[in-house]
Amino acid sequence: MKIHFFLILLWKFVYCVSFFSFENRSESQKCELRHRGKNVKFPKQFLFGVSTAAYQIEGAWNEDGKSPSIWDTYTHLHPERIADHSNGDNAAESYHRFEQDLRALKELKVDFYRFSISWSRVLPKADTTSQSKKAIDYYNMVINTLLENNIQPMVTMFHYDMPDELSSFGGFTNDIIIKYFRFYADFLFKTFGDRVKKWITFNEPFDYCVPGYGNADFPPMVHAPGVADYLCLDNTLRAHASAFHLYKAKYFDSQKGKIGITISSRFYYNKNKESDEVVDRAMQYALGWLAHPIFGKSGNYPFIIIEDITSNSMREGLPWPRLKPFNFHWTKYIKGSADFLGLNYYTSRYVEIRDPPGGEIPSWEYDSRIKYSLDKKWKRAKSNWLYCVPNGLEDILRWIRDNYNNVEVYITENGWSDDGELVDLDRIGFLKAHLQAVLNALNDGCNVTHYSHWSLIDNFEWNMGFTEKFGLYYLNMTSRNKERVAKHSAHYYKSIIESRKIPSSDNFV
Ligand code: NOJ
Repeated sequence: MKIHFFLILLWKFVYCVSFFSFENRSESQKCELRHRGKNVKFPKQFLFGVSTAAYQIEGAWNEDGKSPSIWDTYTHLHPERIADHSNGDNAAESYHRFEQDLRALKELKVDFYRFSISWSRVLPKADTTSQSKKAIDYYNMVINTLLENNIQPMVTMFHYDMPDELSSFGGFTNDIIIKYFRFYADFLFKTFGDRVKKWITFNEPFDYCVPGYGNADFPPMVHAPGVADYLCLDNTLRAHASAFHLYKAKYFDSQKGKIGITISSRFYYNKNKESDEVVDRAMQYALGWLAHPIFGKSGNYPFIIIEDITSNSMREGLPWPRLKPFNFHWTKYIKGSADFLGLNYYTSRYVEIRDPPGGEIPSWEYDSRIKYSLDKKWKRAKSNWLYCVPNGLEDILRWIRDNYNNVEVYITENGWSDDGELVDLDRIGFLKAHLQAVLNALNDGCNVTHYSHWSLIDNFEWNMGFTEKFGLYYLNMTSRNKERVAKHSAHYYKSIIESRKIPSSDNFV
């Protein structure tokens, strides 16, 4: 009897402690941002959209002549590397269910839809010797239907899914990729460019180069950090510039579109408040690595990166630097090779110098010498890397304004992961705070013109499979029709698009 009584008391005690600590945590972990500046409305010409990518939603991985991409092969050979052992074989089946995606896009009233074209679907051999008529018909249907519904198509030409064919002889580490990509780009401009006016060459090079060719977390699982990942970034930049110049020389006069590249970056805050040098170092090693050659003054990698890697390479006994600066020809060619900067912003970190440097020798961690940390006040999403830091978006937009001559910015991704709940209050909070950041940045003179939320629907989240959901629409994976169901955040986003203001989230709770 006494023991029983004691156990009840103990249970009550544990319950109270955990209740209060949970309360404290949710109390102190905020995902909010205050309004700053004159305007409370987004300008008339500001455009709202949503983003997806081919492998994450299309399914139909081997239909109508499509050949495998590295993600097909990787998920088939290594299901153990995907959190739920899933793959993108079917996903949201958008290849067969575009009308369901369209219904959601129309409901949201978005101005544009950012989607990607699967290279190995349209060109099964990766070059133009074979073209899939049915795949071309599919993308024509998507583009035409969007335009009929007053939704502008924004097309990503490459979103992680390299054709296996190309990967088999080196992928991004073989500079023949520059030629292949140029011919692929030529084919895309010729086939779709009369209607597509916004092109993104590459999505997040950093995020397929470092895991793909550095630490082997992603396909093609090359483990050569500090060498092959740098080659991948280098060839990506040159392939990008090559597609840009092709567009300008051959298509721009008749098609009058814009072409840019999407780079992912966090913003960084100084952990020790001693000097802001570390913030600049962290920004150069993230955004600057790819953005500086295109939007900076030198047409080359940031000086600090060239300097670090050259001296580290010498110390390691290498007769050449692991990162070769661009020569005169390439600096001229790369500098200015984009009409806009596509930015994927999700989160931020605190930084300090790591002394001695960490990571494998050599590697990006080792060369950059940065230690990252978090703030207890930042609310975390389902993804272990994703914390809500809306001021980071405002600050990175300002950093771009100041460092790259206020180049036009499209926010091509920004989003929050959870378990897929329909009443997704945290996503509403994230959306509200981040659009507030965009509005504050606009009020502060930043040249940001587009915002696109990731993602339209729940989809295949790479190594996390279907365990982390980013959609404004829930995807019923177990039903035959794979319905897309609006979450509360979809209604909230729609109200922003309609009113061009950031409404209180109260009515959506
Ligand atoms: C950026 C990538 O472009 C996209 O494919 C991914 O799903 C989101 N981040 C979320 O991780």
